[in-house]
Amino acid sequence: MQTINVDLPQRGYTIHIARGQLDQLGKTTREVALHDRAMLVMDAKVAEPYGVVAKRALEDAGYTIVTHQLTALESRKTLSTVEGIYEAMLEAKLDRMSPVIALGGGVVGDIAGFAAATYLRGVPVIQAPTTLLAMVDASVGGKTGVNFPLPMDAAGRSELGKNLIGAFWQPRAVIIDPQVLTTLDMRDYRCGLAEIVKHGLIADASLLDFLAQHASAIGALDLDVLEDLIARSVRIKAAIVEEDEREAGRRALLNLGHTFAHAIEPIEALDLRHGEAVSIGMCAAAHCAVQTSRMTTDEADRLRDLLQALGLPTHLPREVDASSLIDTMGYDKKVASGKLRLILPRSLGAADIVSDIDRSILQSAWAAVGAGQTNEGC
Ligand code: GLY
Repeated sequence: MQTINVDLPQRGYTIHIARGQLDQLGKTTREVALHDRAMLVMDAKVAEPYGVVAKRALEDAGYTIVTHQLTALESRKTLSTVEGIYEAMLEAKLDRMSPVIALGGGVVGDIAGFAAATYLRGVPVIQAPTTLLAMVDASVGGKTGVNFPLPMDAAGRSELGKNLIGAFWQPRAVIIDPQVLTTLDMRDYRCGLAEIVKHGLIADASLLDFLAQHASAIGALDLDVLEDLIARSVRIKAAIVEEDEREAGRRALLNLGHTFAHAIEPIEALDLRHGEAVSIGMCAAAHCAVQTSRMTTDEADRLRDLLQALGLPTHLPREVDASSLIDTMGYDKKVASGKLRLILPRSLGAADIVSDIDRSILQSAWAAVGAGQTNEGC
């Protein structure tokens, strides 16, 4: 078992990583939330078998459990889904001491975390992620929230803006059981690997070496390797959160690749999941870094080769117009005072927030991953 402490004034907590850890959910929850009643919010997809295991573990620790199942889709990550949770909480007479346990991927963690942050002005939340992406990213650091419709366009259409409504609400504990990854869809599994690569790229070149050396064991879901990998990745995120809980500075580095990713992720014809879009986004960011002499071509190539070895895309599956992607990037939350801020790698294992990147460099970065006219790879 590996434990990692997130050291925050008054809001510190422990992340527990071990095979079989889900069986310990009740005991761990009991250590941080003394009460007799709790709500288990879970992805309907994991209700069998993990929901059953989690409920039993909580009941064995003396909790009366109210369960609430969600359909874990970005399109359902809305205030009306949160309202459904509030209604169930009120119905079950949950009070300010009643913990909420979020069992599922990032969508469930974000929704349940936001419900916990706001119900009766805040009740304890325990994150029990069941996807690799949620284990290494969403469950750690206290970001919770939902999507919200953007203002209508000229044609009267409105899209959901990602995570526009939310709160920082740190969990009381995070319970990571790598065993549950054995039943995860492989595409979703690889999406989690993209976020691990991102952590290495911004803060720890040796994690990138570890990924490269163990690529085949990782592909085969070797649980010993995975436990180490998750712990290394979570340590990086925890350290960044400790330094900058509210994203006033360094935490923004965790968005490397995401400004590019958010432009391609909503395009249905591309059929990209978040981690896949982040993988392509990291390649585009690396290209910008090469163009601005922050990274060598050799380093960008090593990044691309690693992503490919992990089964991740480094190129758009079909051509899209680079100019419209750049326009979409302008709507991202990372636009500060009208200027586009990007997170760019500095070599492998470091990154910075960079403003004022020329449109021509963005054009060339998008072209390098397959947008517009050229097809050069990253
Ligand atoms: N997923 C980025 C962050 O937690 O800040």
